[in-house]
Amino acid sequence: MNWKRKDLLGLEELSRQEIEFILDTAGSFKEVSTRAVKKVPALRGKTVVNLFFEPSTRTKTSFELAAKRLSADVLSFEVSTSSVSKGETIVDTARNIEAMKVDCFIVRHSISGAPLVISKAVKAAVINAGDGCHEHPTQALLDLFTVKEVFGKISGLKIAIIGDIYHSRVARSNIWGFTKLGAKVIVCGPPTLIPHGIEKIGVSVCYSVAEAVKNVDIVYLLRIQKERQQENFFPSQAEYRNFFGFDYKKFSFEKNKFFLMHPGPMNRGLEISTESAEKENSLILQQVTNGIAVRMAVLYLTVRQVH
Ligand code: CP
Repeated sequence: MNWKRKDLLGLEELSRQEIEFILDTAGSFKEVSTRAVKKVPALRGKTVVNLFFEPSTRTKTSFELAAKRLSADVLSFEVSTSSVSKGETIVDTARNIEAMKVDCFIVRHSISGAPLVISKAVKAAVINAGDGCHEHPTQALLDLFTVKEVFGKISGLKIAIIGDIYHSRVARSNIWGFTKLGAKVIVCGPPTLIPHGIEKIGVSVCYSVAEAVKNVDIVYLLRIQKERQQENFFPSQAEYRNFFGFDYKKFSFEKNKFFLMHPGPMNRGLEISTESAEKENSLILQQVTNGIAVRMAVLYLTVRQVH
């Protein structure tokens, strides 16, 4: 297919064909990271800016490595030591950096829609690296890539997403991605953390982990986002752990034969037990590895649209 988008803001607006095209492109980039010299010249001469207004380990590092493996120059903008701390708006910040002739902004922000606002103000490519509770498209793409790598397909699989669905941009992007590619998605968590009417976007809802994990191929655990919990959505962490925390001893991997995924960072001992995270059925580090190939694909496709 002929890729036309300069921005990647979410999976909601992508077609099934576009998602599959990114995954196929990522497949061709995966091998680059196994070479002795992990570099191709695809974006030589281009400049990519990491504009992270929220903390990140995986996404920021992964985008930086992906851009460098495509031979782009990378600038990691430090918000805490920038003029943002003096009150400069995100649009002024982006437009001033763009005036130095950069080609792409990778944007993470606590406010949903911040990458969209920047994309309307600049000619450079804008990639959403997680905005508020809205979307985290490259996380979902690397999750789809990992599932396809393990199962050879996505259509027909059953995936249970467990935890804080309400605040989760990862859940939203994964719901769009998995349903568009033909998987069945069940969301599970405390009723206070499941958005009303979520069934309308094609998922089923379950309030019992034991029920949700029956006959599924993937159990996808979400992080409890302590930084976004302004109210008491559940009585205590101990209560959450008892009812929704995942421990493989309670839900035997061997018997049920599902794989375990988590986007990170994990709250060990809360939504996931340490032993579960380390079990052979855990795909958590494979997800991180695949993030590089997927982000190389997204950078390659979008930055080439900038003129
Ligand atoms: N999965 C994820 O977005 O992790 P980081 O917050 O470390 O980037």
